[in-house]
Amino acid sequence: MELNDFALARAIHVLAVLLWIGGVAFVTTTLLPACRALAEPDQRIALFETLEHRFAWQARITTVAAGASGFWMAHRLDLWWRFAAGAEWWWMHTMVGLWGVFTLMLFVLEPFVLRRWFAEQAQRDPERVFARIERMHRVLLALSLATVAGAVAGSHGGWGF
Ligand code: HEM
Repeated sequence: MELNDFALARAIHVLAVLLWIGGVAFVTTTLLPACRALAEPDQRIALFETLEHRFAWQARITTVAAGASGFWMAHRLDLWWRFAAGAEWWWMHTMVGLWGVFTLMLFVLEPFVLRRWFAEQAQRDPERVFARIERMHRVLLALSLATVAGAVAGSHGGWGF
């Protein structure tokens, strides 16, 4: 019995996506509403950051693993032509686009810009900042789920080819 490198890359890709997007779903549907219910507006962001801290590392590691395994699969099968081909390959674009957005958020914006900005804004209007954090998570979760559904269907021939 032998596991080829493409199958291994696919397994790593799916595991990474599972941990990463599953975590985003947990944060969005469970952790944020719990912080809203448990803390007063001026304490919510601090509580959320304390609890979410560990997931930020899980998200960083799994984002790198998903990107590396995805890149390897595209390279191995030479799938780059899909980015210039028809609309049935939309999910290839959303995978890379979403990966780019998360990479920017997790490695650049969150540690260097957003954390300070949220802290400043939260002193003025904590209710509004928390609502914005919730909205941002909902949008990213919706895009992530659409991408996962599109990619699974697309990888297995579901978009008309
Ligand atoms: C740089 C970023 C990424 C690249 C280069 C990439 C590349 C790929 C490639 C080449 C495949 C295999 C396609 C095929 O077999 O025809 C794939 C599958 C898949 N990707 Fe990505 N991907 C990336 C990011 C993502 C993200 C962010 C998600 C989720 C939100 C995702 C979810 C999936 C899923 C669910 C599959 C289908 C697995 C299966 O059912 O076999 N990928 N990806």
